[in-house]
Amino acid sequence: MLIKLSKASDCKESEVTPESIYLSRRSLMGATAAAMAVSALPRWAAAADPSRYEGVDPGKAPSWFADKLAKTQWQAINVQGEAITPFKDATHYNNFYEFGTDKGDPAANAGTLKTEPWSVVIDGEVGKPGRYALEDFMKPYQLEERIYRLRCVEAWSMVIPWLGFPISALLKQVEPTSKAKYIRFETLKDPATMPGQRSSFALIDWPYVEGLRLDEAMNPLAIMGVGMYGRELPNQNGAPLRLVVPWKYGFKSVKSIVRITLVSEQPETTWENIAPSEYGFYANVNPEVDHPRWTQARERRLPSGLFSPNVRETMMFNGYADEVASLYAGMDLRKNY
Ligand code: MTE
Repeated sequence: MLIKLSKASDCKESEVTPESIYLSRRSLMGATAAAMAVSALPRWAAAADPSRYEGVDPGKAPSWFADKLAKTQWQAINVQGEAITPFKDATHYNNFYEFGTDKGDPAANAGTLKTEPWSVVIDGEVGKPGRYALEDFMKPYQLEERIYRLRCVEAWSMVIPWLGFPISALLKQVEPTSKAKYIRFETLKDPATMPGQRSSFALIDWPYVEGLRLDEAMNPLAIMGVGMYGRELPNQNGAPLRLVVPWKYGFKSVKSIVRITLVSEQPETTWENIAPSEYGFYANVNPEVDHPRWTQARERRLPSGLFSPNVRETMMFNGYADEVASLYAGMDLRKNY
């Protein structure tokens, strides 16, 4: 978030799509066929279905995840005509400051994150507060695969096949009271396993916190993620539970969530607190409102390199305007950035 980017406008426009990285042939199978294929695989393979994509480390899924995977609705939402980012890039070019500020730090350091056992606290303005073991928390939900663009505020982007469930389903379970207007999400605070939280140079007042307006959270595109590329979330991507809101800059998609609180006032959020003139509460992807230090009109789609910068125009609401623009009707998006 603090990096200085070279001006994206210096790069030659290119929409070159690397050939090596695509949904493997099996991705074209229908949901039923895929589910049958999964149940026919040996136990270790049924724990994840990374064979849908190329180059995926199968991981070691907990049993609740493996059980749900068999009933997953594959490709519930897809991105037409855009290549899926290779697993290697999506898992080795990360922002997860709890494990360091370089893009490779989370992959190198997040092995210390202990994701089992994991519990989630639900509190605030809800009819059903409590602390839930993750496997109990997950019981009511069916997994869906959502293939979404991810646009970081730093002007790079990816296309990622997530596995998760709509936040609207969660809200139905926890029964918000009439006072609930916002939802606040908190990442684990555990300096013993998160070296970035021990660093005396860290700007962040841990834990990392993010939030959404309740109607944003109810939008069908907003999901709680528990997996990607047909397997559970790798630690560096926010295991075991993270937010995914594809029309907003990536920093809204808070990782490794331990607490979800329904509140009546707009919550204070991590990046808005650090630099309010640069990072707003809404953080909707908007090519017309530049970051004070760089343009937001274009983005670098990973993988990209010096000779193939893979730069493309950024789309309003990251290409999801039809689904979400009505949430902001009448709002000045220059003020509410
Ligand atoms: N969540 C926590 N707890 N800590 C972080 O540093 N970084 C955010 C977001 N969630 C971050 C976080 C940013 S800036 C981005 S772009 C996305 O995670 C990156 O997600 P990815 O690494 O899975 O691509």
